[in-house]
Formats: sequence, structure tokens, C-alpha cells
Amino acid sequence: MIEVTVSTRNGTYPVLVGAGLLHGLPEFLTEHVDVNRFAIISDDNVAPLYGEGLLEATRAVGLDARLFTFPAGEASKTRKTWSILTDDLLEAGFGRDSCVVAVGGGVTTDIAGFVAATFMRGVPVVQVPTSYLAMIDASVGGKTGVDAKAGKNLVGAFHPPALVVADPHSLATLPREERAEGLVEAFKHGAILDDAYFEQLNETAVALLDADTKLSEEAVCRSVELKASVVSEDEFESGYRQILNFGHTLGHALEAASSYRLGHGKAVALGMVLEA
Ligand code: GLY
Repeated sequence: MIEVTVSTRNGTYPVLVGAGLLHGLPEFLTEHVDVNRFAIISDDNVAPLYGEGLLEATRAVGLDARLFTFPAGEASKTRKTWSILTDDLLEAGFGRDSCVVAVGGGVTTDIAGFVAATFMRGVPVVQVPTSYLAMIDASVGGKTGVDAKAGKNLVGAFHPPALVVADPHSLATLPREERAEGLVEAFKHGAILDDAYFEQLNETAVALLDADTKLSEEAVCRSVELKASVVSEDEFESGYRQILNFGHTLGHALEAASSYRLGHGKAVALGMVLEA
């Protein structure tokens, strides 16, 4: 396991990366978050794979937890889903003494993070990314939010997590296509910050697409280190953090022009080529 520390205006938080770490999640929650109740938020693809097991494991160590799910897919990253989830939490009696645990890909980490940022004016969030995109990018740095008609991620908040736990074992259950989409962000990190990493990704791309445990753990670690170094320096994107948007300006335009049929990773890959 490696631990990367991210600095924020209000302190620091750890990002733990290691194959098999999901098994220890209930203990990590006890260690890092001092609350009474945990709202595990997951989509309906990931909930049967990890959400339900996590719920059981969390309850088994005596923690009070509930699982909340929403339909998988970017189409769910809306104010409507946010409103359903926050109402569900309220109906289930969650209050200020709660923590949101986001388990899933980038849509889940963004929307569950936004629920945490706004519920009772802000409760802690623990990010448990299960895709390359979420491990490498979305779960680190505190950006949370939903899409609007006018564009992606236009309504949201900076809400740094209390803890991030990334277990590369979960990549094995992801469709290969989605692994490819997420790995584009790793290539982006190499392109903007680390030539040797970019070369290494080129050499190991096929094994990474196949979710080789050792290589994917190494890549997630390096990407998290690189992203952490940027967001620790410029949490609120007042300058330097914009480097992480390489490929995204044209990438977002391509996604929108294709009515979101073009995946985010492919769009950003094309965007990087065009912007370069
Ligand atoms: N995904 C780019 C950023 O976190 O700033």
C-alpha cells in the first residue's frame, strides 16, 4: 500500500492505494472519520459488486450504515439525482453526524461528493473509486458536482474528501472499453508532468488495459502522486491546476458535439492531440 498526502486550505487528507484495500475499508472508516452514520452511495452497476459487500462489512464492525443507489451512467449526473439522494438521506434520518461513502466511478464520486458538500451544509465524504478514471482523476482534488443543460460539471463545489481508498483489484470488473477511457487521464498526467511515466504507459498499455494488478497499482500510484502535487499547490484552480485540463477544452466540445456518444476518455485523447 502507498499513502499519498494531499494538502488543502483546511489541512490534509490521505489517498491510500493498494490491491486488496477494499477488505480493510470498515477499519479505515473507523480510523479516519469520527461520525455516527455512513451513507454508502453507489450506482446500480457497482452496488451489487462492491456496495452491498461494503454495507455488510461496515455493519459487521458495528458501524451504522445504509446503501443508497441511483441508475448508472452520465445521464444520472443531474440535480434531479442529487435531489433524490439528499431526500432519501433525510427520509432515512441522516443528519450532521453522517459521512457519505462514494463507491464507484467518476459519476458516483462527483455526485456523491456533491451530496456530501451540500447535505446539512456539508458532511465528510470518503471516496472509494472503482474505475481508472475515478482513481486517477475524479476522486482526488475535491471537485464535486453535476452536469447542467449548458454543459458538464457546471454546478458543483470544492469539497475535499476525508480519505480516498483505491483498490486496483476492482478494475478487473470494469469493461475493457472503460479501462481505456480512464487510462487516457494517466497518459495526460505523463504528457503534462512526467516524460518517463508517459513512456512507461506506452510500453505497458496492453497490460494496463487488461488490468494487470501490479502494473495498474503502479500507474494509479504515480498518477495520484502527480495529481496530488498539482492540487496541493492550487486547490481552487486559480492557475497551475488548469494544467490538468489539457485536452479537455476541445475534448468537452467534441463530447457535446457528439451528443455525448463519444466517451470522455476518447474525447480527451483527441482533444490532447488537437491541443498539442
Ligand atoms: N479533473 C481535473 C481537476 O481535477 O482539476
